[in-house]
Amino acid sequence: MKIAPSILSADFTNLQADVAKVQQAGARYLHIDIMDGHFVDNLSFGPIVVSALREHFDLVFDCHLMVDEPEKYLVTLANAGADIIGVHIEATAHIHRVLGKIKDLGKKAEVVINPGTPVSVLSEVLPLVDQVLVMTVDPGFGGQKFLESTLTKVSELAKIRKEKGLNFDIEVDGGINEQTAPKALNAGADVLVAGSYIFDAKDPKQRIQTLKSYERD
Ligand code: DX5
Ligand code: ZN
Repeated sequence: MKIAPSILSADFTNLQADVAKVQQAGARYLHIDIMDGHFVDNLSFGPIVVSALREHFDLVFDCHLMVDEPEKYLVTLANAGADIIGVHIEATAHIHRVLGKIKDLGKKAEVVINPGTPVSVLSEVLPLVDQVLVMTVDPGFGGQKFLESTLTKVSELAKIRKEKGLNFDIEVDGGINEQTAPKALNAGADVLVAGSYIFDAKDPKQRIQTLKSYERD
C-alpha cells in the first residue's frame, strides 16, 4: 500500500518544508493536482511547480491532470519531472492517443474516472495503463466528503484485474481519512491519496503513520 500526500492542502508559502515532512514520515509518492479552471472550477499550479519540487525531491510524482485538452501539457509535464501522469477519461475523446503519448514519453500512464463515470467505460484501456484513479469525490477541491458509492467501483476494478491477469495499481482520491482509508483498502485500493487529512493536521507524520498502519482485512 502506498500513501500519496496531495500538496493541494500544503502550505504554499512553505512547500519545500511541508513536502520534506511527508517524505520523512515515509511517504514515497507525492500527489500533484493540476487544475485549469475549465475541467474543474478551480485553478492550482502547473509544470513550473513540478520542476521546482523535482530539484529537491526524488519521490514518485503522481500528477493528476484536471484539465481540458490534456494532450497539450504532456511533454512539458514529462520534462518537468512527472513520473505518473493521470488523465481523466471525461477530458478527452482520444484516450488511446493520450495514454500512448504518456508511455512514449517514458512515463507511467494513468486513467482517471469521476464518481459519476462507470468502470465499464475503461474496458478498452485497462490493458494499457499502469494505474487507475477512482475519484472518491467530484474533483476540484480538497476537504470534500468521501462518496461511499465509489467503493463498488474499486472492488469491480480489483475483480477485473484479477480475472484478466492485469497489473495496474488502483488509486483512490478524495475524502480519505481514518474512517474511509480502511474501506478503500478492503475494496482493493493500492494507493491512497490524502490531502487535508495529512496537511491540515498538527502532526502530518502521525497521520501518515496511521494510514500506513492499515492493512487489508
Ligand atoms: C481533488 C483532488 C484531490 C485533493 C484531495 O480534486 O484531486 O487530490 O487534494 O483532497 P482531500 O484528501 O482533502 O479530499
Ligand atoms: Zn487528485
